[in-house]
Amino acid sequence: MAAHGTPIPMTTRKSGPLRGIAEVPGDKSISHRALILGALSVGETHVSGLLEGQDVLDTARAMTAFGAEVIRLGDGEWRVHGVGVGGFAEPENVIDCGNAGTGVRLIMGAMASTPISATFTGDASLRSRPMGRVTDPLALFGAQAYGRAGGRLPLTLVGAREAVPVRYRTPMASAQVKSAVLLAGLNARGQTVVIEEKPTRDHTERMLAGFGAEIITETTDAGRIITLTGQPELIGQDLVVPRDPSSAAFPVCAALIVEGSDIVVPNIGLNPTRAGLFLTLQEMGADLGFENMREAGGEPVADLHARYSPDMKGIAVPPERAASMIDEYPILAVVAANATGQTLMRGIGELRVKESDRIDAMARGLAACGVGVDEDPSSLSVDGMGPGGVPGGATVSTHLDHRVAMSFLCLGLAAKQPVKVDDGGPVATSFPVFETLMAGLGAAIERNNR
Ligand code: S3P
Repeated sequence: MAAHGTPIPMTTRKSGPLRGIAEVPGDKSISHRALILGALSVGETHVSGLLEGQDVLDTARAMTAFGAEVIRLGDGEWRVHGVGVGGFAEPENVIDCGNAGTGVRLIMGAMASTPISATFTGDASLRSRPMGRVTDPLALFGAQAYGRAGGRLPLTLVGAREAVPVRYRTPMASAQVKSAVLLAGLNARGQTVVIEEKPTRDHTERMLAGFGAEIITETTDAGRIITLTGQPELIGQDLVVPRDPSSAAFPVCAALIVEGSDIVVPNIGLNPTRAGLFLTLQEMGADLGFENMREAGGEPVADLHARYSPDMKGIAVPPERAASMIDEYPILAVVAANATGQTLMRGIGELRVKESDRIDAMARGLAACGVGVDEDPSSLSVDGMGPGGVPGGATVSTHLDHRVAMSFLCLGLAAKQPVKVDDGGPVATSFPVFETLMAGLGAAIERNNR
């Protein structure tokens, strides 16, 4: 499935039970970080289970452009020979991060404290997204950004000559901003401190510690205070990437709404900063089981068992949970449409600056499929139509957004009439095997001629 280029319209229709083992790909957040930290290390990093989605492949290519050696050894098996902290070379050409906000923002952080320049761009979705949230704190290190209006890509970043450490309170709950600051702090002499009011995914902190950096997280009433000591020698590691809970969410939620389903997703990451969706689904009455809870590669993992759950009720999702399930609201909205009663999702304004404006994309698509919705700047409510009660029968615009596309393709599996998406191509950014995996479980999913 191509991530860029000619749109690939796709349709799903009401399906029989989904059954089997869903081997979803590696975690996207962890995969980006594995390549970037591998590139900033001394010696070799070996990664297994790397997500080979377009977003991560674009980061791999970028790390090569900055001078690291990045080699694919086999399926999900990669080796990175790093250049060490401060060792990035100046890329010879523009860095194209495709659709990947995480890729571009983390890479900007990783180069901002090295005296080189790089120009970044991406696809139409990425070029419309705000970069000031990253370039503002990077300026405090001494880096300078020259972008389009609103800090949009294409953007040239001139790294700091003598980076000074920074103390920064993130103005929004964003792991990308936090991570960009920490990565820039690697090559600043002294201690860089990031304060975040609400905890966001902590893969960067865990992985930095694993590569040998001195990094301490304190949990206080004011939030998390993360202190990184600059200029460590990072040492290459052997990393195992768990399966992505954000990708697992799609077959899991499809199983909850398709009659008779029973699936297992083995070995998924269950870092508490990522697991909010599963808690929410359980509160709604979903039949989820977590088996073989264990630790792998510094992250908690388990096998997740999901069964058809016709008794789910709409709930008010606590807004303080938003950061731990920020990528999962689109598919939660689909589950909500198949539950009984209203589901209210508040405190989700960040969804407006994802790969698309996800509040708007979900509200319009659900409304087109006959579901009652309401939105305001930072919330979305969905009127549940009961199990199998969604009329469907619409074509939905996905706005270059992989998660919007997958959400509506899951909706179609339980709707009365088929649901078509205008472009399933972006699914390849995070879940390149989505179509074959879902079909293998029993989903009626097909590509359409335009
Ligand atoms: C990510 C952080 C989140 C999330 C994105 C991945 C990361 O973005 O939406 O898919 O890997 O750090 P924000 O930091 O913008 O919330």
